[in-house]
Amino acid sequence: MMGSWDLSISKELSLVEDLVQRSIDSREPLLTEIAGYVIGAGGKRVRPAVTILSYYVVGGKDVDRAVQIAAALELVHSATLLHDDINDGGVMRRGRPAAFKKYGLQNALVTGDFLFTKAFAIGAKFDPEIVDITAEACVRLAEGEIRQQANARDLSMSEKEYLVIIQQKTAGFFAAGARVGAMLGGGSREQIAALSEYGRHLGIAFQIVDDILDVVGDESVTGKPVGSDIREGTVTLLLQHALNNGNATARTELEGIIRRGPKSEEEVLRAIDIIAASGAVDESRARAGEYAVRAKESLDLLGPEPQKLELMRIADLVLHRDA
Ligand code: IPE
Ligand code: IPE
Ligand code: MG
Ligand code: MG
Repeated sequence: MMGSWDLSISKELSLVEDLVQRSIDSREPLLTEIAGYVIGAGGKRVRPAVTILSYYVVGGKDVDRAVQIAAALELVHSATLLHDDINDGGVMRRGRPAAFKKYGLQNALVTGDFLFTKAFAIGAKFDPEIVDITAEACVRLAEGEIRQQANARDLSMSEKEYLVIIQQKTAGFFAAGARVGAMLGGGSREQIAALSEYGRHLGIAFQIVDDILDVVGDESVTGKPVGSDIREGTVTLLLQHALNNGNATARTELEGIIRRGPKSEEEVLRAIDIIAASGAVDESRARAGEYAVRAKESLDLLGPEPQKLELMRIADLVLHRDA
């Protein structure tokens, strides 16, 4: 939870939380229950934190509108997690059985749609430019998920393609949150562009670390299964590194496992071992580190506001997180 990251904006984050909670009220109690099940399970709330800090760092004074957009984005994020677990067959989320496991596929799908709609009910009250930016980020996210699926098990996928996919599915959303926060805060064109770049680089680092945690994470801390990417044949920086740098026998074995359709748990664990032994974790963390540095450098032109230091600290926390 971001709460444990000790940021100065805990009051604003509780306002976001309240609005998210209020938004999931429905005449159908089951819908509210499933939405509450996902949202109440926690989550780091890193996207709302970035939006609120981006708002303040450019001098925003009346945080209410930033709170609304942050809540809308967190609703979208929760919706995408509901759908993503269905797509990825992810059986655990935020330390609980995934919603589709507990409530069934149809109910989880509909709850995802419900959360998207609730988010847009909030977002649509804003200027067209802000609606466009958030809608565009959601479209990119969907495109990223489709493109990832289309490239599944493609062992020749390039690193460039990996970067395109993670920008679409993850970083664009961070960039939109930072950009919109800065716009609402009355930032200059340069400041808005700088924060957008901050969000994009942060999001790339964030997804690389997520992919690292898929290999070496502790499920009791991440709250989701390790090995999902291997099970799904999702091509990550770590897999690419292991395929290019591991020893030849291990590489052939890894290729065989990834190419296979359904894999046994033993094969998944073996693939994890091969990837971990290839040096892929250190290499990927170094790459994520470069993006964290770029995120921080994007803030160079901002003034000495305390929120700038917090945004910089978030980049470090994202890099070293274990959840
Ligand atoms: C998970 O996001 C999906 C990715 C983009 C990797 P988070 O790791 O932010 O999930 P929560 O909200 O903290 O559960
Ligand atoms: C992020 O990628 C997916 C979304 C942007 C919704 P992952 O599929 O790796 O996310 P996790 O690991 O399931 O949280
Ligand atoms: Mg997933
Ligand atoms: Mg993942």
